[in-house]
Amino acid sequence: MRMWTTKELRILETEKSSPSEIPAAFRASEAQASRRFHQTLAGYEETPLVALPALAERLGVRAVYAKDESKRFSLNAFKGLGGSYAMFRILCELLALDPAETSAATLMKPENREKLRSVEFVTCTDGNHGRGVSWAAGLFGCRAHVYMPCGTREVRAEAIRQVGPAEVSITDLSYDDTVLYAKAMSERHGWILIQDTSWDGYEKIPTWIVQGYLTMADEIIGQLEALAVRPTHVFLQAGVGAMAGGVLGCLADHYGARKPVAAIVEPESANCVFVSAHAGDGRPHSVEGIAHTMMAGLNCGTPCGLTWPILRDHAEFFISCEDSVAALGMQAFAAGRDGDPVVISGESGAAGLGAAVQILTDDSLAAAREAMKLDPDAVLLFINTEGDTDPDNYRRCTANKADHPESA
Ligand SMILES: Cc1ncc(COP(=O)(O)O)c(C=O)c1O
Repeated sequence: MRMWTTKELRILETEKSSPSEIPAAFRASEAQASRRFHQTLAGYEETPLVALPALAERLGVRAVYAKDESKRFSLNAFKGLGGSYAMFRILCELLALDPAETSAATLMKPENREKLRSVEFVTCTDGNHGRGVSWAAGLFGCRAHVYMPCGTREVRAEAIRQVGPAEVSITDLSYDDTVLYAKAMSERHGWILIQDTSWDGYEKIPTWIVQGYLTMADEIIGQLEALAVRPTHVFLQAGVGAMAGGVLGCLADHYGARKPVAAIVEPESANCVFVSAHAGDGRPHSVEGIAHTMMAGLNCGTPCGLTWPILRDHAEFFISCEDSVAALGMQAFAAGRDGDPVVISGESGAAGLGAAVQILTDDSLAAAREAMKLDPDAVLLFINTEGDTDPDNYRRCTANKADHPESA
């Protein structure tokens, strides 16, 4: 195990002995099943895979690609992929329909909508997942209750109300305690808990949520193949690590021995995956307390049990970073310099790119760059997992982009 530390970030390299098999639930074939469902939703379109050649040149790598999830449905983030697929699977089960033979339109038929009117979902969210759940509940004619941790900005609660019927409240609890609260409410009222993380005994629904995210991975694989490009590196931001673990599992399954080097990026104040990797005992560990970071989507204290083993066994690097690193990523995406398109990326969406920019431009991190093989042949893949979900903060973070050395 090696670690490089600056005031902006910490990079942990872990040794991989014999990586475990990717669980069947998160292989490329499941990604195709999830994508088949999403394709039956009105408004489905593959999100763009954007090439940023001028940024690649400035960073001294061969290529930079970003999957732009700010364009996903009308939701400004990837998260609706998970909520909608899980809700679809739950409702198929309630109506005794075979998901392989059922489209979104079948569920929306008046006779099915009538049966689903009384179904109520509940979840905890830091924003984007709740938006997906509210939106999907509206599609299928169900109800939803959404709880948010303390410190959540009202703009994020309002964004959830705007896309669907969910009743939204901000609690005075941490994220992890709000999850427990949502669980208790599901037990008290008979609402269905649709949570984007798993724990012992609660695995089926989170598995479907992660499978929903795999639509992204399936699209990326197809888009890169069409360009005859193989990524050498992927930077994936993590809250509980469900998205990162699912996508990494799918990429590792698809590319096998030629899998990209993977770096998992989290906020320093909510770095549960980093802490778990650092502990080195193979088990997931929680970070206690209420964390303060502008990366709201990554502000989670307990790794997802389903995907933690994939991150543990298939990610080589774990990065824990300050908010300034996310701002750097937002600025790099927003720069649109020398012919690169502008990508609108929010705090959590930009953390992966921010970490890469920091590592590639900080002289004191030369040894880390070498260990990571971030050299002129590197082809970097990022997922911009959200757009400007907090528009005021987005403006604040990108307004002074010309001040940063990266954009000099
Ligand atoms: C924009 C964004 N990116 C990344 C993530 C991380 O996903 P996960 O919690 O599955 O690690 C989230 C989670 O809410 C998010 O909203």
